[in-house]
Amino acid sequence: VNAIDLLTRQHREVDQLFADIEKADEDQQIVLAESLAELLTVHTTIEERIFYPSVKNEQTMELLQDSVQEHLEAKRAAERLLELEPEEGQFMRIFKELKKGVEDHVGEEENDLFPLVRQFCDLERLEDLGRQMETLAAQVLEEKDPAGRIPFETDTPAPL
Ligand SMILES: [Fe+2]
Ligand SMILES: [Fe+2]
Repeated sequence: VNAIDLLTRQHREVDQLFADIEKADEDQQIVLAESLAELLTVHTTIEERIFYPSVKNEQTMELLQDSVQEHLEAKRAAERLLELEPEEGQFMRIFKELKKGVEDHVGEEENDLFPLVRQFCDLERLEDLGRQMETLAAQVLEEKDPAGRIPFETDTPAPL
């Protein structure tokens, strides 16, 4: 699996969940928000632990620093979302904030970071990273409560 293809596929899964949550009734929203938090946890974990450190160089450093900051903001919004019940009326406000932040971040990765990475990572390297990320993603999903780590990751951005 090519690392960039794997990450891009997860981006589309996130897009789909955002769309599903917007259409869902209030009870479903709580369930789907939990799935969203899990997917965001898996995705940010494999990017922060494997992809970002592996593609770090002078060209990408600034984009990566922005990225871990944007991940931090998404985790903070996700944490607040999980604490809320939709009927509190805050759910949609925080959901929209989370969605906007994540969509902007995903756009930067796909339009700026990934094309840059393709310039210096050959296919063999991308496939090696993809395999490592698939293994870590499976490990995170096997945890009892994958999204439970979010509140512990909201103080500082992940190290690069
Ligand atoms: Fe990211
Ligand atoms: Fe991403």
